[in-house]
Amino acid sequence: MNPTDLLSPAMRRKGMATVMRGASFVTRLLPFPQPTLMVGPGSSARLGESIAGMGHAKILIVTDAIIVKLGLIKPLCDALDAGGMPYVIFDKITPDAPIPLIEEGLEFFKEQCCDAIIAFGGGSSMDAAKVIAVAANNDKPLRELAGYFKGRRSPVPIYAVPTTAGTGSEVTVAAVVSDPERQQKLVIMDLRVVPRMAALDPELMTGLPPAITAATGIDALTHAVESFIGKWTTPYTEGMSLSATGMIFENLPVAYEDGKNLQAREKMALASTYAGLAFTRANVGYVHAIAHQFGARYHTPHGLANAIMLPHVLEYSAPAVIPQLAQLALRAKLGEEDEDEDALALKFLDGVRALNQRLGIPTTLEALREQDIPALAEAACHEALIGYPVPRYMDQETCEAIIRKVLPEPKAPAKAAAKTTAKSPAKRKPAARKTVPRKTRQAA
Ligand SMILES: NC(=O)c1ccc[n+]([C@@H]2O[C@H](COP(=O)([O-])OP(=O)(O)OC[C@H]3O[C@@H](n4cnc5c(N)ncnc54)[C@H](O)[C@@H]3O)[C@@H](O)[C@H]2O)c1
Ligand SMILES: [Fe+2]
Repeated sequence: MNPTDLLSPAMRRKGMATVMRGASFVTRLLPFPQPTLMVGPGSSARLGESIAGMGHAKILIVTDAIIVKLGLIKPLCDALDAGGMPYVIFDKITPDAPIPLIEEGLEFFKEQCCDAIIAFGGGSSMDAAKVIAVAANNDKPLRELAGYFKGRRSPVPIYAVPTTAGTGSEVTVAAVVSDPERQQKLVIMDLRVVPRMAALDPELMTGLPPAITAATGIDALTHAVESFIGKWTTPYTEGMSLSATGMIFENLPVAYEDGKNLQAREKMALASTYAGLAFTRANVGYVHAIAHQFGARYHTPHGLANAIMLPHVLEYSAPAVIPQLAQLALRAKLGEEDEDEDALALKFLDGVRALNQRLGIPTTLEALREQDIPALAEAACHEALIGYPVPRYMDQETCEAIIRKVLPEPKAPAKAAAKTTAKSPAKRKPAARKTVPRKTRQAA
């Protein structure tokens, strides 16, 4: 039995809040590595030129078939060819890469006698590449590598080229993959999975469809916001979170509406990296805890799951983080310096909802089923309790109620639907909150 099972849920929440404060001290001392960044149009080719001079024997490029079909890896491959660097391509990665696929990539890496990896794609390709890099140098089943610092030896060298502006995986200490057998997402955390170099090339992102641009962009916003309102912030992470928030509010609608706008794409790529630099140190919160459950159970794309939950979790957290939300509102240019903090905080909550609406993000999760909610809430509460320094913890009932807010409307039979438009009371969406309660402002 886990000794914490002997405590009441309230005591456990209080105890974990104390543990989290202690962990904050430890994370401040950790030497987080940072990759050398190349930024701007053509930077993926420049990265290829640099990697060609690194003296590797053979490189494995880990990516997905869509990216290869779109020709996005060509400039990098041309640069590797020109520099005489041998490479092979593993292009089978699918969203939230499942363990068997990663094992296949690992076999290919070994068969081909590779000694370094280029992670090329969205978070799914980058994270699969990170896990292959760890597993290549550690003879352990993949499931046993999940958790903190589980690999005894360092991964093989990793380089990264993100093609979405969302996860920030090019600078983070995390790699997320899925375990289809247990319907779980597995996270490998290790300072050594941070890539050595990364290229933020906006030219690779101009063909990203609007819906993926929107969802991945809100993933980056969620990293910026959750890291900023959590308990592990430092002046460095605060700066990164605030810059990312300002850049996302300004550039995400442009990138969504005019995908070929290179400037907006480059700003979004930078914002995603800044948010990554913030959350890899200051961590995330309940939006991610819940989104990971949606991803594991329903295969909801990570960014979309975050985007749907962000307004609701923020509304719950708001009483504990009014000053932070006010600062975020100012950076997002949603209010003026002379307004009071409560008004600004409210403007930030409204601003997030408005941004979601402008980006066509749905307000409900079509796949969500009422009968799944208790298990989803339990897993999300557990993930947050043991891992995230959130400003306000939730109990099971609260978490269930928050998830219930994104249940899809019940599909009424055609005849009945014509007669009545009333919503079922259990599933009615609450009206937007007009004030943030002041009394409960301290962390629960
Ligand atoms: N490691 C971390 O720190 C971290 C942080 C957040 C999320 N994640 C993980 O990242 C994964 C999600 O990554 P994602 O949101 O980037 O999506 P993704 O990598 O799953 O890609 C989504 C889709 O977009 C396509 N795509 C990618 N780039 C494209 C481009 N430039 N043009 C056209 N199509 C393109 C892909 O082929 C794919 O079909 C999840 O597994 C999530 O858990 C990891
Ligand atoms: Fe995320």
